[in-house]
Amino acid sequence: MTSASPPSIATCPTVPLSNGLQIPILGLGTSHQGGYSQQAVLFALRECGVRHIDTARRYGCEEQLGVAVRESGVPRGDLWLTSKLWPLDYGYQSAKQACRDSCARLGVEYLDLYLMHWPDCMVGGRSNREVRAETWRALEELYNEGVCRAIGVSNFLVHHLEELKEDGSIRPHVNQVEFHPFQQPWELMQYCQREGIVFEGYCPLAKGQALTHPKILRLAKKYSCTPAQICIRWSIQNGIVTIPKSTKEERIRENSQVFGFCLEAEDVTALTTLHDGRHVSWDPTHVE
Ligand SMILES: NC(=O)c1ccc[n+]([C@@H]2O[C@H](COP(=O)([O-])OP(=O)(O)OC[C@H]3O[C@@H](n4cnc5c(N)ncnc54)[C@H](OP(=O)(O)O)[C@@H]3O)[C@@H](O)[C@H]2O)c1
Repeated sequence: MTSASPPSIATCPTVPLSNGLQIPILGLGTSHQGGYSQQAVLFALRECGVRHIDTARRYGCEEQLGVAVRESGVPRGDLWLTSKLWPLDYGYQSAKQACRDSCARLGVEYLDLYLMHWPDCMVGGRSNREVRAETWRALEELYNEGVCRAIGVSNFLVHHLEELKEDGSIRPHVNQVEFHPFQQPWELMQYCQREGIVFEGYCPLAKGQALTHPKILRLAKKYSCTPAQICIRWSIQNGIVTIPKSTKEERIRENSQVFGFCLEAEDVTALTTLHDGRHVSWDPTHVE
């Protein structure tokens, strides 16, 4: 795979949101964990055709990312930028302010997607449901004002989504959840599909843990590609928007070269047997 010249990620397939927007199925993650590399983001934008970047206030790199985007010369309209609202900013006024602050740090007038990062509101004295509903109202307004072209949630389980359905008027466009061979929440995915919520998977490499599994190594050999490419391609073939993160230029190139091959159906199925329920990020199971 790595020696071929597959279609650029700039022409990568997209997934339609319920409001008609198209989100590129592959993006680049950023994070506070494992560092952030300005050079790597620039490389992704300039050399690999990456046009979808995932960030969050929590990651502390919005400002640097904004600089990279401007330096890259990629027109704003060609780029999909997602950011996330951290729970300490939940609440109607603070959510609106936090979104505008994220835009200011990124140096953009709008976000393509803005997500509530986590279902637990981390505030005392009020129920999570009440605070989530109030926060969601702020996101709905930001959406109606055009500050966010799409709005969604992250780490929400079915009961969180059901409550939001009752409490809000706009259905989340996206739910971003941990998804990799060891963590496959199919029921949640099917729920999202039924409700018209696009399922986006994070940690597609299980933070690197999937890259040494014998079954994945075997498939990498079979398809003459790398274990990371197997994991990313598998997510994509499951129709899942995926955002692998790397701070290394060559790995970003590798991770973006996943459109020149196709896993056979039996291999897609074989990877579904690797689910063992482990979370490599956080686990929202006990969040009310
Ligand atoms: N919504 C949420 O709550 C949430 C939670 C976690 C993550 N996320 C998002 O999802 C993105 C991805 O998640 P993640 O970074 O935690 O996990 P990941 O993408 O599964 O794995 C990243 C790790 O794998 C390494 N790596 C990347 N490409 C590689 C390759 N080709 N070969 C070998 N190693 C490789 C990276 O190291 P190097 O950087 O050294 O290459 C890093 O240690 C994040 O950046 C963030 O945008 C969202």
